[in-house]
Amino acid sequence: MSVLPPGTELFDTTDDLARTAAEAIVGALDRPGPERRTLCLSGGSTPERLYRLMAGPDFVTRIPWETLHLFWGDERLVGADHPDSNGRMALAALSGAPVRPEHVHRVRTEGLSLAESAEAYERELDALGDGTRPLFDVVLLGLGEDGHTASLFPGRPEVEETRRRVVAVPEAGQPPYVPRVSLTVPALSSSREALFLVAGEGKRSPLAAIAAGEDRPAARIRSCGHVRWLVTRDAVPG
Ligand code: 6PG
Repeated sequence: MSVLPPGTELFDTTDDLARTAAEAIVGALDRPGPERRTLCLSGGSTPERLYRLMAGPDFVTRIPWETLHLFWGDERLVGADHPDSNGRMALAALSGAPVRPEHVHRVRTEGLSLAESAEAYERELDALGDGTRPLFDVVLLGLGEDGHTASLFPGRPEVEETRRRVVAVPEAGQPPYVPRVSLTVPALSSSREALFLVAGEGKRSPLAAIAAGEDRPAARIRSCGHVRWLVTRDAVPG
């Protein structure tokens, strides 16, 4: 049995991984016409390098910022400028790019309860249509050491949600232990392409479990196109 999930591509460094992810995003957004493009961003430490690359000289002119709308796969219930905010991290890393402020669809947390924040984001996603077309051109995803993705933690009821596109996650399974808002499996699976960004030794065990066919939240994500697993060699089990 393979020690890696199908669709895995291996890289020596996180820089190489980030560069391949950036190329994939450029390719997926490259189509004529002014209609909206949509990118769903991930939290965590691995994608930060990708965001900096997207805003840097090699990629910034190759991304159609004027039509690109940014969404988030999950957010922590902290203030917008809090160090743990996924929205803050991504926008800080993308700060050199001409991101259109009106195209930034952050999960609103301030002054809202957890349930209100999740409901507000569900309404934000309604703007993307009725679900007859994929919500996102590209979904970026991380893999937690317990096999979680976005804020869908193993064994928790949020993983089983099939009707809604956004769920409130009262209890995080991994640090930071703050409540979260997360897209659901169906919403995260509504893409033309999904890219998992996986780096570091801590990812060996969840990768081995997923390759062995065990049920983990990350293993449930599908795409209308490809699910690509971009993995650094130090994360390979065995
Ligand atoms: C979050 C994330 C989460 C993350 C994984 C991997 O808000 O915590 O969206 O799902 O992607 O935990 O994180 P790393 O890339 O930091 O290992």
